[in-house]
Amino acid sequence: MGKTIDHKGFKVMDISKQRVLTGVKPTDLPHIGNYIGAIRPAIELTKKAEDSFLFIADYHALNILRDPKELKEYSYQVAAAWLALGLDPDKTVFYRQSDVPEIFEITTLLSSVAPKGLMNRAHAYKAAIDKNKELGNTGQDLDKGINMGLYTYPILMAADILSVKSTLIPVGKDQVQHVEMTRDIAGTFNHIFGEVFLLPEFYVQEKTELLPGIDGRKMSKSYNNHIPLFMDSKKRRKLIMKIMTDSKLPEEAKNPDDSLIYQLFCHFGTDDAKQEMRAGFEQGGMGYGDAKQMLFEAIESHLKEPSERYVELMSDKKNIDALLLKGAEQARAVATETLRNARVAVGL
Ligand code: TRP
Repeated sequence: MGKTIDHKGFKVMDISKQRVLTGVKPTDLPHIGNYIGAIRPAIELTKKAEDSFLFIADYHALNILRDPKELKEYSYQVAAAWLALGLDPDKTVFYRQSDVPEIFEITTLLSSVAPKGLMNRAHAYKAAIDKNKELGNTGQDLDKGINMGLYTYPILMAADILSVKSTLIPVGKDQVQHVEMTRDIAGTFNHIFGEVFLLPEFYVQEKTELLPGIDGRKMSKSYNNHIPLFMDSKKRRKLIMKIMTDSKLPEEAKNPDDSLIYQLFCHFGTDDAKQEMRAGFEQGGMGYGDAKQMLFEAIESHLKEPSERYVELMSDKKNIDALLLKGAEQARAVATETLRNARVAVGL
């Protein structure tokens, strides 16, 4: 898989030899925290990899969403967002999970070897159980409200990864366990039936820091402290002006690392501008209003064009459908071969 060992004995990956894959659950429109933490690094990685696959994980979203219109709309929004932010569908195979039925047959094949106990240990399932405990539920009610889709989520995710023979999966820390489970399940299958599946590696990008929201807590739609990716400039400016600060005066010296404005600016400003803001805070003279204006301009220059592209893409959903279907054909070409090998291996 193009790996060598560095002077400390760590594995070093040759990304140019990897097939990168990632899935995005269409349960929300991404915000700038998602962009900095996941979307931008994943798009960068697709440029360095030998080839790459990116899909809208709509069957995963179905474990959560109950409104068909919402599922459809979020799928378009997420697809348009990634395209607007620079995903190149000529270089990356870009598709809807639900357009690749081979994934679901592979899920069934994997289910025959995936240990139930392994599913019991999945973080997402354990978190749902813990929530029920907190609500005072006991016994069988510990599973209250938990659907089988959530329970077997790691098996479907394994099928996503294994079906197209991907080797490198960029993930946030919360998803590492899922890739490890994929290796476990694929390893078990291979051990019993012969070498059918390629074992993937996960890739946690070092810089996937959590972005703070405008109130200082982790940026999240559920806290309503997020900055949307695509919005009208005036509204964006208003939101940025609301970022929480203390009451220090412009001339007072401030610690930039304590400032939400500076923390956000670090991801958008040029090196020179970051230096300028840092020095202005440290020496005094940089007021919060000016700093917010600098932040607004930096975010604007990153997102103005993508915002326009997003609106344009969303105005032609047939075009998005056509792009995704073309990607699905490419994904199916690989997945069909994987499925054929797996079926033959088990005796079907
Ligand atoms: N589980 C991922 C998430 O919640 C989404 C996902 C589904 C995924 N299938 C995948 C990510 C395969 C990487 C590879 O964010």
